[in-house]
Amino acid sequence: MPRSPVPVLTIDGPSGSGKGTVSRLLAQALGWHLLDSGALYRAVGYAASMAGIDLSDAEAVTRCAETTRIHFRDPGDGGETRVIVNGHDASDEIRTETCGAAASAIAAIPSVRTALLDLQRGFRRAPGLVADGRDMGTVIFPDAATKVFLTASAAERARRRYKQLKAKGLDVTLAALLHEIEARDARDASRAVAPLRPAPNAVVIDTTGVPAQTVADRVLTLLRDR
Ligand code: DC
Repeated sequence: MPRSPVPVLTIDGPSGSGKGTVSRLLAQALGWHLLDSGALYRAVGYAASMAGIDLSDAEAVTRCAETTRIHFRDPGDGGETRVIVNGHDASDEIRTETCGAAASAIAAIPSVRTALLDLQRGFRRAPGLVADGRDMGTVIFPDAATKVFLTASAAERARRRYKQLKAKGLDVTLAALLHEIEARDARDASRAVAPLRPAPNAVVIDTTGVPAQTVADRVLTLLRDR
């Protein structure tokens, strides 16, 4: 009898839509693995910047994506997963707005996306995977049985980001974040390869004003009803 594929739940959407928190809650509730694909693009953006590579030099950035060693480490104390880039714990550096903008820029290069394809698909391991990103349901795991696309108003997403970054002690303003989020959305949605958009069979959930746990519960119901 053919073995059924490892189940994947894809959670796509723009930054600040609650993907990260909701995906973590879902992975915990299901006991499944978690892929934070944005962290991979951030790690490549970070590695390229550290190496002094011009981010518009597609060839050099692609080489960087092919050679950068990225892995996730669970601290084991319930704390946030650490992101190790070429042996260095870059978890804090990759979360800055500068690194987010670098990630968005290099993510528009088709060969960079190809370089990260196998790495991402390798996260699909039993008993299941929650995949968080922009193109999880459209490109990376098109055969996923359950696909979710989270949205929220730009103002709400900027407010969430503001709270997150302030909690980390970073010096940011709400107006600058709103501007940055709108610019990033436009770039991510208009690129030629794997633009940000829901898969045709994705369930779209607006998370404006909805707590992450409530969103996660709705997704769990969806998953169980399939
Ligand atoms: O989710 P995030 O904010 O950490 O992602 C950072 C950037 O990486 C985002 O602006 C677009 C890019 N990205 C992508 O193109 N495809 C993904 N699957 C995940 C992120």
